[in-house]
Amino acid sequence: MEKAPRAVLFDAYGTLFDVYSVSMAAEQLFPGQGQQLAKVWRDKQIEYSRLLTTCNHGAHYEPFWNVTQKALRYAIEFIAACADSMPANGRFDLKNTDSAVTQLMNQYRHLSAFPENREVLAELKSRGIVTGILSNGDPAMLNVAVKSAGLADVLDHVISIDSIRKYKTHPDAYALGSNATGLQPKQMLFVSSNGWDALAAGWAGYRTLWVNRAGLPAEQIGPAPTRMGTSLRDVFSFF
Ligand code: LAC
Repeated sequence: MEKAPRAVLFDAYGTLFDVYSVSMAAEQLFPGQGQQLAKVWRDKQIEYSRLLTTCNHGAHYEPFWNVTQKALRYAIEFIAACADSMPANGRFDLKNTDSAVTQLMNQYRHLSAFPENREVLAELKSRGIVTGILSNGDPAMLNVAVKSAGLADVLDHVISIDSIRKYKTHPDAYALGSNATGLQPKQMLFVSSNGWDALAAGWAGYRTLWVNRAGLPAEQIGPAPTRMGTSLRDVFSFF
């Protein structure tokens, strides 16, 4: 039987921190469009991160905070451009973009954590398992998020790809987990709520848990994650 993982590394945004909690604030600014805005924002953020990593060998790298802010600006302009599908009185005046960006980025800085997270991390630590975040987030934004979510004392490592300026899904990004823990990928479990992230971590040699909170379809390329679950508590199925 395979040995239990010695470390568990978590994706941050969408996995430990609830990215879609910004939908509520977005809904107030864009009535009826909050969820769509949050989705376009997230998709564009990930798309930009990949562009910045793959084009010209990363020459255009920008930290994740900037990427997130620019993706938000895109999402707002996208929603405004879909004016036909919006009631006339719900139209967003692009003159208000700066203030909407400021408000939503403040929300993003202090995302809520999913409710079970602290308990899961604390239990892993009490069992002597190494815990950490392995994220695209830059160190400043990760530190604020970890503190606001009250997770600082239950995480051994907060690993940012910013040190190598290559976003996931670049293999060097996943290799940071081994640098930090001194363990081989196969001795660790990588947990993400993003199917693509679990897939890429699996390709990098980790055992993987895809926390499929949104009930999304499985990725159609690559091997399936080692396991799929619906909450962070499903990490315990590996022990
Ligand atoms: C992260 C993003 C991809 O935390 O969710 O790395």
